[in-house]
Amino acid sequence: MNKSILVLKGDGIGPEVIDQALKSLKAVCKKFNHRFEYQEALIGGVAIDKFGVPLPEETLELAKKSDAVFLGAVGDWKYDKLDPAIRPEKGLLGIRKGLGLFANLRPVKIFDELVSSSPLKEDLIEGVDIIIIRELTGGIYFGEPKGEGIKDGERTSFNTMIYKESEVRRIAKVAFEVAMKRNKKVCSIDKANVLDVSRFWREIVTDVAKDYPQVELLHMYVDNAAMQLVLRPKQFDVILTSNLFGDILSDEASVLSGSLGLLPSASLSDGKIGMFEPCHGSAPDFKGLDKLNPIATILSAAMMLKYGLDMPEEAKAIENAVDKVLKQGYRTEDIFKKPNEKLVGTSKMGDLIAEKISKDN
Ligand code: IPM
Ligand code: MG
Repeated sequence: MNKSILVLKGDGIGPEVIDQALKSLKAVCKKFNHRFEYQEALIGGVAIDKFGVPLPEETLELAKKSDAVFLGAVGDWKYDKLDPAIRPEKGLLGIRKGLGLFANLRPVKIFDELVSSSPLKEDLIEGVDIIIIRELTGGIYFGEPKGEGIKDGERTSFNTMIYKESEVRRIAKVAFEVAMKRNKKVCSIDKANVLDVSRFWREIVTDVAKDYPQVELLHMYVDNAAMQLVLRPKQFDVILTSNLFGDILSDEASVLSGSLGLLPSASLSDGKIGMFEPCHGSAPDFKGLDKLNPIATILSAAMMLKYGLDMPEEAKAIENAVDKVLKQGYRTEDIFKKPNEKLVGTSKMGDLIAEKISKDN
């Protein structure tokens, strides 16, 4: 099959981790006889440096024409002082909105061999298998009005947490559909004891649930959820939540797996285009050090194959290869815990996984 993929390497360690995942994709193409055409474009800080904006129009146009978008990371301290309208993160938010990527899927799975590298007790996390469904194009991230003004005679700043019924319905539907293919449990997380928008969210989610009588629906306040995630993570199957809460809880959930460097994500729209990126940021301090874990990005490539290009078998080939390399004891620094493990750098980890894909049949 021929597919066109837009590669947005971005900032910091983005290019390094993307390069590792491209090795795996190359091995997959060879093995399954596919042809992927890659185009590269700029987003984030590198786009600001060249064009003065974090999301050049050309990048969004290319993304719309491709079969899938594969993204590294955006952001660098050096842009912290810029006008907020042109921060690197605006590029990421812009492309999510521009492509209508309202559904962000963040699976949190524990690799058996990494159970001991989690900071949590082994019996708590063994067998944890959660998927966070985060609403990605609405809520307080995009809500209007927002800004700064003068209130009661002093400088004041504000954002708006806002959801339309259709926005809640469509993301709830995604969560229930995903749950139907898993353990049929949805936990919707909100702050309905305080926020109007959360009470509304809860009402709509409860209504959508009527179409899925086999799925058990539970509601939980976000503060309690933050605690439950580290206290009894096994109780969760599908977590459904809004943009901001999903951002926070997915970083927290990454700790279960032992490292943020292991968590992939898929951002999907109603249409055909999806974007695939690791959950972690650009980690500019680690740029060029060949230290960081490329597995989150490599697994994001697997998600691209599965959800974006309809190639589940090919996705499995990558996931199996990651499993095997970890079983053989190879570890990047973030998950290196025991003296008998083999410490490797970013690039070597990329090579090992790609080689495994080629060798296995
Ligand atoms: C994420 C990131 C982004 C977000 C930032 C980089 C804008 O933290 O994907 O979780 O807040 O959504
Ligand atoms: Mg985040």
